[in-house]
Amino acid sequence: MEGMREHGFALWFTGLPSSGKTTIARLIEHELRARGLKVEVLDGDEVRQQLSPQLGFSKEERDMHIRRIAYVAKLLVRNGIIAIVAAISPYRETRQYARDVIGRFVEVYVNCPVEVCIERDVKGLYKQALRGEIANFTGISDPYEEPLAPELVLYSHRETPAESARRVITRLIELGYLRA
Ligand code: ADX
Repeated sequence: MEGMREHGFALWFTGLPSSGKTTIARLIEHELRARGLKVEVLDGDEVRQQLSPQLGFSKEERDMHIRRIAYVAKLLVRNGIIAIVAAISPYRETRQYARDVIGRFVEVYVNCPVEVCIERDVKGLYKQALRGEIANFTGISDPYEEPLAPELVLYSHRETPAESARRVITRLIELGYLRA
């Protein structure tokens, strides 16, 4: 099938814990499946459990984890599959590495003030981090490097997940990754 492989790309969500990455990624997954496209979601938490249960959250360990995700995404993308990644991926240089390895790469920054993330605290980990019970917690005691030139910025504190998902689809069409 001529051009099939050309349809793959990586849609890479980055942002603080509880910023909304997974929620928005899952909405896009369903939307793209409904369009008959092949999609896989690589969620940071799940991939860690499956591929890297021994890795912690030092810079070196996060980088190793992200490089493994980038490798899997590359394999999917070159076979015409859309790889949706939802991982904090806090380091700019490592996201750039993923972009270079994968090629067809759309970086989406899920921007949300840390105060709002703390209020949401989906997994209750901010509370523990603020009590000093978790070291190196992103946004509290570990860095998050904002993207300087992402393809799209979402503002999850003032857009609903459905609105954010709609904006992602619109941007993918603009960029030529999806048909209108
Ligand atoms: S990444 O930094 O390596 O990209 P990833 O997205 O895979 O992170 O995993 C983040 C998840 O791990 C968080 O949603 C949270 O549930 C859990 N977690 C446990 N410890 C930490 C920590 N120190 N910093 C950030 N997330 C943590």
